[in-house]
Amino acid sequence: MPLTPVITEHWDDPELYTLAGYQRYGGYRALASALKQEPDALIGQVKDSGLRGRGGAGFPTGLKWSFVPQNDGKPHYLVVNADESEPGACKDIPIMLANPHALVEGVIITAYAIRAKEAFIYIRGEVPAAIRRVANAVREATEAGFIGRDVLGSGFDVNVVVHAGAGAYICGEETALLDSLEGFRGQPRLKPPFPAVAGLYAAPTVINNVETICNIPYIIDRGVDWFRQFGTEKSPGFKVFAVSGHVNRPGIYEAPLGITMRELLDYAGGMRNGGEVKFWLPGGSSVPMLTAEHLDVPMTYEEMAAAGTMLGTGTPMIFDTTVSVVKAVTRWLEFYKHESCGKCTPCREGTYWITGTLEKFEHGHGTAAEVDTLVELCGQIMGRSFCALGDAAATPYPAALKYFRDEFVAATTTPADEQFDPVASYVFAEAVAR
Ligand SMILES: Cc1cc2nc3c(=O)[nH]c(=O)nc-3n(C[C@H](O)[C@H](O)[C@H](O)COP(=O)(O)O)c2cc1C
Ligand code: SF4
Repeated sequence: MPLTPVITEHWDDPELYTLAGYQRYGGYRALASALKQEPDALIGQVKDSGLRGRGGAGFPTGLKWSFVPQNDGKPHYLVVNADESEPGACKDIPIMLANPHALVEGVIITAYAIRAKEAFIYIRGEVPAAIRRVANAVREATEAGFIGRDVLGSGFDVNVVVHAGAGAYICGEETALLDSLEGFRGQPRLKPPFPAVAGLYAAPTVINNVETICNIPYIIDRGVDWFRQFGTEKSPGFKVFAVSGHVNRPGIYEAPLGITMRELLDYAGGMRNGGEVKFWLPGGSSVPMLTAEHLDVPMTYEEMAAAGTMLGTGTPMIFDTTVSVVKAVTRWLEFYKHESCGKCTPCREGTYWITGTLEKFEHGHGTAAEVDTLVELCGQIMGRSFCALGDAAATPYPAALKYFRDEFVAATTTPADEQFDPVASYVFAEAVAR
């Protein structure tokens, strides 16, 4: 399946991040066309395109926009989730660095469509380069009259605020993000009410991922039929796949939904040292792992679900046979334990116990009984936590056990580092050896 560079099409132009660079390739043409249409018509086009949110859950974007009560006389807000912190996910940050104006143009069109006059872009605070790029793009767009009062003489007013987060993974969860944006400690809110009804400052709010919003100018400019020629009926369009791990050319590959991991692996130059795939995750550490037998499953929302996992953020991590699955799962759980916000007991306590038990396995001290106790423990968290971080933390171990039970049993006597030479698994092994 050929690659379909759209958001990434002109990334080889070092000036693309500037307004002049973006406009060389038709930038802000979609905005001019959008402002001549009724907001509801734009919502209709995004609905018809079938675009699904690229932040992980794959919720239909047009449908989400249509939940905002229109003409209710209340302020509406648009919030862009640019907190990208999931282990393995690295697509929104490169997009913001290389093509920030696609995001800004998407923000203005979306704000107009949902009748919002204020938009916020909440960017992960540890990435100042991305914050600077997006802030610069907002400044350039304001100077050009795309942001501010009476945009392009349309009568539409919009203000765009770039906000830096303070480094908590939980602030990527949309309601924790809203609390953080309002100046509170970032912790998830009870839903319902959903943000479309009561979000930022209790007003109707749309929250979308960076990549989702970057699709909007292209859909408005090139049309629904053009968008739908890519992907499948249930997963239309293309995706910015960020491939990482033991591959020869890790990086960003924009391709139609429905491409397989085997094809992406070919684009990424195959496995390093001609190695074999041991396990891979389609979209961040929060989705269940797959193995080499799944390399030909089309990467769509529906096919990934049928294979027992999720497309997630569409940022596959691929591991070769040098890796200890016990160690990989332990590292992820240490992350979730650290990032658990502590609001609810199953996640706060559960991540602590799972991580402690996994660390015993890593050092060869697990017990045969604990191999199964851990599954029970994960079952106590899954579906019983206040937000999806708890579910994410309960995901890696059962999935790993399904395919690699022997390795966990072996870890009751043999430390992971004795089963697998740790240096051999390092992505930058040569640098470490030096
Ligand atoms: C712990 C946690 C972290 C999340 N982090 C992000 C993130 O960094 N970026 C993002 O877009 N969505 C993230 N999400 C998903 C958001 O809650 C939300 O579904 C998404 O921003 C909606 O945008 P979309 O419909 O465009 O996909 C996270 C969810 C959870 C539970
Ligand atoms: S599941 Fe974890 S992160 Fe989510 S509210 Fe509960 S403690 Fe906080």
